[in-house]
This record gives sequence, C-alpha cells and structure tokens, in this order.
Amino acid sequence: RIAYVNGRYLPREEAAVSIEDRGYQFADGVYEVCEVRGGRLVDERRHMARLDRSLSELRIARPMSAAALSLVMRETVRRNRVHDGIVYLQVTRGVAPRDFPFPPDGTRPSVVVTARSNDLSRLERVAEEGIAVVTAPDIRWQRVDIKSVALLPNVLAKQAARDQGAREAWLVDARGNVTEGASSNAWIVSRDGVLITRPLGRDILPGITRSVVLDLVKAQGLKFEERAFTVEEAYAAREAFVTSASQIVMPVVSIDGKPVGNGAPGLVATALRKDYHRYAE
Ligand code: PDD
Repeated sequence: RIAYVNGRYLPREEAAVSIEDRGYQFADGVYEVCEVRGGRLVDERRHMARLDRSLSELRIARPMSAAALSLVMRETVRRNRVHDGIVYLQVTRGVAPRDFPFPPDGTRPSVVVTARSNDLSRLERVAEEGIAVVTAPDIRWQRVDIKSVALLPNVLAKQAARDQGAREAWLVDARGNVTEGASSNAWIVSRDGVLITRPLGRDILPGITRSVVLDLVKAQGLKFEERAFTVEEAYAAREAFVTSASQIVMPVVSIDGKPVGNGAPGLVATALRKDYHRYAE
C-alpha cells in the first residue's frame, strides 16, 4: 500500500510525519473521506468544497490548488488499485516547535492521502441485515461542523457502541435530541412516512452523503423535515438510518436494543441506498 505524504508517494511502512506535526501535537488539522466506486471519486466536488470550508474556518492555508489535490487523490487511488473503497485526505497546520499560537507564516501545511479497498459484498450483507445503534451523550466541542481530526469523543462513543454490540453511536444533546452519529448523520422516518434529519448548524457535520440524499429525497418528491428529533421519537419511528461516505445509506434496525419498526431494514432507507449512486456525481 502506498501513501502520499507531502509531495511523495511512499510505501506505507516508510510514510511518516514529524513528531512536531501540529496534527500530532494538537489535533490541529482537518480531513475528508471520499468514497471510491468503480475507480471514481463519488461526490468529489462537494467534499473539496467542505475541505475548503474546514480549512478556512481554522485559518489553515490551502496546501495546493483543488485541481492538484484532486490529482493526488486520483493517483493515490490508482497506485493502490482501489476499485471500490475510500480515499482519506488529511491536512494539518504543519510542523513547528510545540507552541499553542499558530506557527510563523509560511509554515507549510502537511498533506497525507491514503486509499483502501472495501469489500462491497460484505458491506451489502451488512446493509441487508441493518445495524444496531446505541445512544451516548454528545460531549464534543461546539464547532463540530468543522471536519477536524480531533475525534476523541467520537472514538469513545464508537467504542462504547462496540462494547454493547452496536456498530454506531447516536450522540444526544442536553435537550434529549439526537445530533448525529459518531461518524455519520442520523435520520428517522416517522410513522406517517416523513423523513427527518437534524438541520445544519454548528452541532453537526454537514455530511456530504446527507446533502446528496436530501437532494435525492427532493427530486423524488418524498416528504421530509429538517428538524431536531428526540431519542423517544427515534424509538417510535417506522425506520431509521445513517448516512456517511463509507456506508452511504445504512439502515438502522435497533436503537438501545429496541427494534425500530418491525426490526428489519426500512423500505425508504433501502430504496435510497439503491438509488444513491445513480444520482450522485
Ligand atoms: N465520517 N458526522 C460525522 C461526525 C462524521 O464523522 C461523518 C463522516 C459524517 C458523514 O459525513 P459524510 O457523508 O460527508 O461522510 C457525519 C467519515 C466517513 C469518517 O470519519 O470516517
């Protein structure tokens, strides 16, 4: 496996960054995960636009042009012979002696790109069964709309989910509303067939898969509401699902051990999953 690190393509064992990288010292960096399907990057433009926004919110310099970055991602996918999988891109504020304020102007951001294959048929089998989620308090900072590499609360929530035999954690705010998953956006379908997902704000990541699914939902004329929903509402929902670049639309069949609907993947989620790649760019 080959990784791109600051201008070079290296075997993964040789790929390394400095111990003084600000990503390592302060989690001072951002990332993107983009799906690869049939060798092509899915929703690439939206991912690049979100990367730009994350960088500018944190005042990290753009490491290179969008076109150059796009080339590096394609080349990393090619060199790893990824047909279906994901490409991971990370940009940090660069290498400098450890000190909290930003390093001097001209410090070059660090760029790492990796790619790996996914077993599509395994993923499909998971989708046919649906996944279990458990709820956990949302203890993250107040700017999770920035796709930063500071993911410790997400790591802890995901492990708590795994410890309970679930694949995802749904994070819950102080009001009892679900914000999003530890690495996905959260959706429910109400008893009367309305799709519900939390509106964008500083309290969720603006998921790319979420935005494409919303476009798809609008194009199909399905009823939807962008609003907060409670855990209780989710327990009583007809369907639930999560969206992310690595899972696209993944049906949720239980929440905190309680079956959602009839305990099988929902019709709406299953249909959206089927239609996604015909619709996405
Ligand atoms: N996670 N919310 C959070 C907290 C996420 O980490 C992610 C993505 C999403 C979904 O966003 P998108 O549809 O753009 O993938 C929502 C990625 C896949 C990850 O960390 O691996």
